[in-house]
Amino acid sequence: MFDMAGDDAVQFGLGEPDFQPPALAIEAFSQAMKDGRNKYTTTAGLPPLRQKIAETWHNRIPTLDENNVCMTMSGTNALLDIFLALVDPGDEVLLPEPYFPLYPTDVVICGGNPVLYPCLFDNGFVPTIADLESSLTEKTVAVLYNFPSNPTGGNVTPEQRDELIEFARANDLWVITDEVYDRIVYDSEHVSFLGAGYDKVIMINSFSKTFAMTGWRIGYILSPDLEAMGHITKMQYYVTACSNDAMQYAVLEALEKASDYPEQMRDEFKQRRDLICARLNAMPGVSCHVPTGAFYVFPKIDVPGMNSEEIAMALLEGGVLCSPGSAFGGAGEGHLRFAYTIGREDISRGMDRVEQVLAELRGD
Ligand SMILES: Cc1ncc(COP(=O)(O)O)c(C=O)c1O
Repeated sequence: MFDMAGDDAVQFGLGEPDFQPPALAIEAFSQAMKDGRNKYTTTAGLPPLRQKIAETWHNRIPTLDENNVCMTMSGTNALLDIFLALVDPGDEVLLPEPYFPLYPTDVVICGGNPVLYPCLFDNGFVPTIADLESSLTEKTVAVLYNFPSNPTGGNVTPEQRDELIEFARANDLWVITDEVYDRIVYDSEHVSFLGAGYDKVIMINSFSKTFAMTGWRIGYILSPDLEAMGHITKMQYYVTACSNDAMQYAVLEALEKASDYPEQMRDEFKQRRDLICARLNAMPGVSCHVPTGAFYVFPKIDVPGMNSEEIAMALLEGGVLCSPGSAFGGAGEGHLRFAYTIGREDISRGMDRVEQVLAELRGD
């Protein structure tokens, strides 16, 4: 679909901030290379950076330190390390559906079986405990939660988080928590699965969204469980040996000197969220949740006789690129994903086109 989009297409397809990393991080990256930081680092990464990251989570678990953190070359790299460490052939991992498309394939690459639990519109894109329980077997080793979610923008309240943790505790499962959107949260504090009274928790995080560094490829894994961190760090050694030397100095600089940068981006995303939700909810046949995190909306679209891929193709012909909900698993059928990673004028222009195409398709 990206290839088919014309030059004039309004792009709601990209899951990356349309901002640049903080200028001082770019400067620090360049300076670190000039200073000779062009070598392998230890597998887990630069100790002061790991310590700084641990400290950013002291509000959840005050005892965390550098030993609880392993640097990776992105959240994508982090996911693979974790599945490699946790999954033996035949093991089952509970994954949300709609899902970030790497999850099921990563589990398969590691010899495991993905088992999908639904996160549906009618329940605010949060799973029910009954659905989770009915997905369990004696082979289940872990459950992955992703809040705020890609693709739905769904998020949990502290009470919902506690129930999801309780489900894992009652069944002795590892919780893999993908919190790459933890700094893009609107209207309330981020609800983390860390420090919620259960230590079999492994967090994936990344600087792709936090500091608009998608092309840099840097992220981390954090867990209060040191034995798990030992196994995960071993896997990181086999996957990429270590993260990027100079870049780790740049991220440390950003954490120390541009810690409010994510909030500046978030404030802009919030205005875009309000705009796109208002526009979508005013269209006949469209219902859109107002997400409390990430930069995606996942509206339900009703065009009789057409599935989400057909609707997305019709929109593409009308000059709008978005993703069909079915690209994120069967439970995404009936939805489209719009990433509001473009300016407000472009959002308005794109929404005018969506309105017109849907009206034609529905015969309104
Ligand atoms: C939910 C989720 N997890 C992980 C990632 C991976 O991010 P990266 O590999 O850029 O760190 C993404 C990227 O879009 C994502 O949406």
